[in-house]
This record gives sequence, C-alpha cells and structure tokens, in this order.
Amino acid sequence: MEVDDLSPEVVTWGLATQFVGQRIVYHPVLTSTMDVARQEARQGAAEGTVVLADRQTAGRGRMERVWLTPGGNIALSLILYPPLSYLPYLIMLASLAVVHGIETTTGLKPQIKWPNDVLINGKKVCGILIESDVQGGSVSYSIIGIGLNVNLDPADFPEISPIATSLSHELGEDISRLKVLRCLLTELEGLYLRLSDAGSVFREWHDNLETLGREIEVQSGDTFYRGLAESVEVDGSLLLRGADGSLSRIVAGDVTLRR
Ligand code: BTN
Repeated sequence: MEVDDLSPEVVTWGLATQFVGQRIVYHPVLTSTMDVARQEARQGAAEGTVVLADRQTAGRGRMERVWLTPGGNIALSLILYPPLSYLPYLIMLASLAVVHGIETTTGLKPQIKWPNDVLINGKKVCGILIESDVQGGSVSYSIIGIGLNVNLDPADFPEISPIATSLSHELGEDISRLKVLRCLLTELEGLYLRLSDAGSVFREWHDNLETLGREIEVQSGDTFYRGLAESVEVDGSLLLRGADGSLSRIVAGDVTLRR
C-alpha cells in the first residue's frame, strides 16, 4: 500500500482543535515517541504537542512489553500538563477518544478491555501507555502514548497474530491514517476539556468496558486474581469478586477472559 503523509503541515491543516495537535513533532523513524515526548516536555513544550512517528525501533507497551510499529500505523505521544486530580481519568479519556475516532472514521464498533486496551471483535487494535511525572504533589507533565494498528496484516507478525487486529484487517481495505489521526486528536481534546465534569467521562468509559460482568483472570505485578469483574470505581480501579465471595480492588493489571 502507499503510506499516507503525516508531515506536520498536512496533519495540522484546518485541524479544528485549540491546542491538541497544533504543534506536531514528526519523525519518520525514532526509538519511541514516549522518549522524544519526555524530552520535549522537560524542555517545556506547549501543551497539546504531539510527537508522531511512522516507525518506532523501540516502541514500548505496558509492563515493559515491546510494541511493534511497522509503517502504515499510528504511533503518537501527546503532552499534557493536567492538574493532579485529572490523572486517574487520562486512561479513560484516551481509550474513549480512540473508540470515538475509530467509530467516526470507519463505522467499526470497538470496545474497551479494562483498563485501556481497545478491541475489535475481541482482538486488540490499540494500546495506550500513560507516563506522568509528579513532583511535590503536582504534575510536571503527562504523556499519553497511543499505538493504533491502522494498516497492519496480523499474519505478518506471528508473535501477535492470535491476539491483534487492525482497522484494515477488519474492513478488508487500506485506511487513511490521516483521517483517523485528525479525528483522534479532535476527540482527545474534546474529552480532555470535558474533564471538568470527570464523572461524565467515567460513566462513558464504564459503559464501554467489555470486561464487566465477565469471568476473568488478572495479573497485577506478581499476583494473579480470578473472579467476576463486578464493577469499576471512579479512580479506574477494578473490583473483582472471587469464588469465595471476597472482593479485590485492582489498580493496574492485565486481564484475560476465562472461557
Ligand atoms: C500497551 O498496550 O501495552 C501499550 C502500547 C502503547 C504503544 C504506544 S505507540 C506510541 C507510544 N510510544 C511507545 O513506545 N509506546 C506508545
């Protein structure tokens, strides 16, 4: 396929946001957009700056996993300077922005696997990584990293093919990254501005979670939990009901559905 151009002037042209994506730092190839965004944030980059790459040579995911970024997909990191009270909501707004962006541009109906994987037909289409620096009770910066499989054939990557999908794979045609990206940036800003009413963002995230009501296994650090995903709390933590009736509150972890 011919890979569409994501150079800054193309992405920002007519982009209807106030600050998200109004400054784009674009590299055809870099190690990880997270690393470049961290340097940018430490140098005081404008809020809403987006670091964007065609390919990452050291893309990373949660729990120190590798994130594959061949060309044709979206790898970005968004720099924000939120108040401390917004931090729990960043995973919610990021996953919702991806859901809205995919729905609007493709008509596909993604779902969120707690806490913030975006799935289509049960397979992962997008991963989100959030890194924040908190000093003395205030946030120096937060970086939202988003890796979205747009034009990727899972069969080319046996290490992820059983669990991964892409927009092109779901629709059977090449997809314009530019269209998806511009919609995603608009959604990210809209949801970020909505955090003054964080409860509404929480409710929408809650309603899009495919995990609730399912029997699951969760790995959180070295601990494994099993049980029914009963509910989520406003800070994003998951409440899991064990077979013995106990209730565990899990702040971070990796969910597997039990058959
Ligand atoms: C996960 O599912 O574990 C999170 C994956 C996050 C991948 C994105 S791609 C853009 C940004 N740069 C990285 O190195 N990681 C995030």
